[in-house]
Amino acid sequence: MSILISQSISPEDIKILSEHFSVEIIDHGFDKAELISKIQGKKALICSINDDIDEGVINAAIDLKVISNIAVGFNNINLQAATKKGIIVTNTPNVLEQSVAEFTFAHILAISRRLLESDNYLRQGKFKQWALDLFVGGELQGKTLGIVGFGRVGQALVPIANGFGMQVVYTNKTGPLAKYKENSAVKYLAFNELLKHADYVVLAVPLNEETKYLIDYPQLKLMKMDSFLINIARGPVVSEIALVKALKEKEIKGACLDVFEYEPKVSQELIKMTNVILTPHIGSATAEARSRMMGLAIQNVLDVLLTGLCKNQVNFK
Ligand code: NAP
Ligand code: GLV
Repeated sequence: MSILISQSISPEDIKILSEHFSVEIIDHGFDKAELISKIQGKKALICSINDDIDEGVINAAIDLKVISNIAVGFNNINLQAATKKGIIVTNTPNVLEQSVAEFTFAHILAISRRLLESDNYLRQGKFKQWALDLFVGGELQGKTLGIVGFGRVGQALVPIANGFGMQVVYTNKTGPLAKYKENSAVKYLAFNELLKHADYVVLAVPLNEETKYLIDYPQLKLMKMDSFLINIARGPVVSEIALVKALKEKEIKGACLDVFEYEPKVSQELIKMTNVILTPHIGSATAEARSRMMGLAIQNVLDVLLTGLCKNQVNFK
């Protein structure tokens, strides 16, 4: 059996796969034509969120049994087309939430204490003396963290937020979770109420037809003028044009973005803003999480090809 991989992987991982399969690695990412030509005859594809696995690719994948995405999100794959062709799609949940949650707080602390701005100021040789009003930020203690999308990543934020003495409010699709009923520091709010009350709004929803532009100009207008928006979900969950407008009009105080509407392109207007922190989609980029993600992506392929079933399949459930 042959499998195709779109990322460079460790010699140990190649060894595991080579015991069962003939492995072809293309570590520069695929262009569509290359992917379509290489996918033919392959039983499995291990790919990343960079790879646009659309209907054309899926229709060319005559022998394919499994698409194993090295990510928890799978909006880069046309799930309907894969399902129609009987191809199982898998993701990598439960191995990266802690890394993403810690990273979200790295953003929150950096924006609240103006770390990037002040680092830049110092490097430019502008630091002459201590001053009472130099780069004054805000404490997290007593502030409200609003979590939009209260799944694995969203819930991993709770203990960290509580550790900082923050109140947590959350919203999701199905309503309040019984697990948090007795916890007075964690409260369910309807989406619009959450936007009105939170000091930090974190987006942790999957990207789909319902969540595209979940945050547009009217939603940004609902947010407090001294609040921050943090998007670690997917770029198109936020309208970037609306965000730029809201930031320019001071409807919100700042934003932290790990993902972008036209990723990897980033709006030049956002790049110019000092009250915005921008990172290149690295939410899960710790050695620990990345190693677990790759291990799980491989395990998912082994499960599907050797047993026909996988606990991390996102279709045929
Ligand atoms: P998850 O466990 O499936 O949780 C998703 C949450 O979103 C659920 O609570 C769900 O509500 C909620 N949701 C779905 N549609 C909604 C809507 N229209 N309005 C409000 N809430 C909605 O997923 P996860 O593992 O936490 O990951 C979430 C997303 O984060 C991923 O899909 C991925 O796109 C992104 N992510 C990014 C990075 C990064 O590197 N930046 C890393 C990991 C994940 P219900 O529970 O009520 O259905
Ligand atoms: C990363 O963005 C993921 O979905 O795991």
